[in-house]
Amino acid sequence: MGIEEVMKKILLVFGTRPEAVKMCPLILELKTRKEVEVMVCVTGQHREMLNQVMDVFRVVPDYDLAVMTQNQSLFDITINVLQKLQPILKKEEPNLVMVHGDTSTSFAASLAAFYQQIPVAHVEAGLRTYDITSPYPEEFNRQAVSLIAKYHFAPTQWAKKNLVAEGKDERQIYVTGNTVIDSVKITVKEDYRHEELEWAADAKLILLTAHRRENIGEPMHEMFEAVRECVDTWPDVRVIYPVHLNPVVRQIAGAHFQGCDRIHLIEPLDVVDFHNFMKRSYLILTDSGGIQEEASALGKPVLVMREMTERPEGVEAGILRLVGNSKDRILVALNELLTDDEAYAKMSRTVNVYGDGTASKRIADIICESDC
Ligand code: UD1
Ligand code: UDP
Repeated sequence: MGIEEVMKKILLVFGTRPEAVKMCPLILELKTRKEVEVMVCVTGQHREMLNQVMDVFRVVPDYDLAVMTQNQSLFDITINVLQKLQPILKKEEPNLVMVHGDTSTSFAASLAAFYQQIPVAHVEAGLRTYDITSPYPEEFNRQAVSLIAKYHFAPTQWAKKNLVAEGKDERQIYVTGNTVIDSVKITVKEDYRHEELEWAADAKLILLTAHRRENIGEPMHEMFEAVRECVDTWPDVRVIYPVHLNPVVRQIAGAHFQGCDRIHLIEPLDVVDFHNFMKRSYLILTDSGGIQEEASALGKPVLVMREMTERPEGVEAGILRLVGNSKDRILVALNELLTDDEAYAKMSRTVNVYGDGTASKRIADIICESDC
């Protein structure tokens, strides 16, 4: 770099567990580049679950907006992020703000950057269901970020196609793969051990997660009834469920699963633990977004408890199956994977539809070469 060249200041803003899992490998990569000064602002939309990831990747934020409150509403998150980010943007005057995905943090942070007239780069751009009620409010959030963003880092060709169809400038859309695969490459270890996995060693282990806002209430009851019935039917099945810290989810989970000795409710795992639990599971039952992508790299079948997915590549590849959130449909799919070896083998394949583990490097190259 010549003496007259000035380093670009990049501010990465994120706030929840999945954003951190997908942004930390990128931060580590950007920090190796001499062309950029990297600053990290966490909104603290999540607290313990965010810190777990930051600790694993040893990323220390420059700013922490600490917005999380118990039972926070979408209003709380959005208003607090907007208000608390403004002075930081004014003080730091970054050349670029980077956000990820579709959370309220991503939406509010990109809006704050827009109001401050700072260009935005969107990591994991272009995922769509085109139904703004599902997932809620994420489909709105990501479409809104796309309106604001100057650089769109699309994980797949399909995501790029969506952005092109919406009229985004094709020259500003880059297909990079998903940085979550970069994360999985760092975390999974052959010699990994954990006492919960010892407990499930001789069983078919179902790894369960559920947290989506639109599933809270009746859909979640149906989902958990299906799990309970499955365990009651098959004596060789055990379930591990690291329960999200949302108090409403914890209350519903506790009510359904208390007293069932083959279902373990445990605290959220850190991401090294979680990825290794995935690797050792028989199948994964989830309404999560990121877990669908990670499972593709680990060769694990996923039953997705949602009516639609913004990640159709895995469904097309045959390793994800949408099972909705009615008890009967979930049970049919579980029973099939537990009894039909051929159906199970078809879904237990490693595919690289979401990337090859080099997305962070690609994104960093583009940022360094850009004129932002
Ligand atoms: C958020 C995102 C969702 C993402 C999910 C990942 C929005 C609107 N939703 O939803 O897209 O899939 O994160 O998990 O952005 N809590 C804690 N400690 C934590 C984290 C959460 O106590 O570390 C509790 C708090 O009581 C909080 C509640 O969980 O109020 C809900 O958190 P929130 O971020 O509002 O919603 P999520 O369902 O986590
Ligand atoms: N995850 C984790 N610990 C857990 C459960 C999940 O580290 O106990 C990780 C998981 O590997 C993935 C991310 O959290 O990277 C997914 O987060 P979540 O399902 O909460 O959000 P979504 O992806 O649906 O937005």
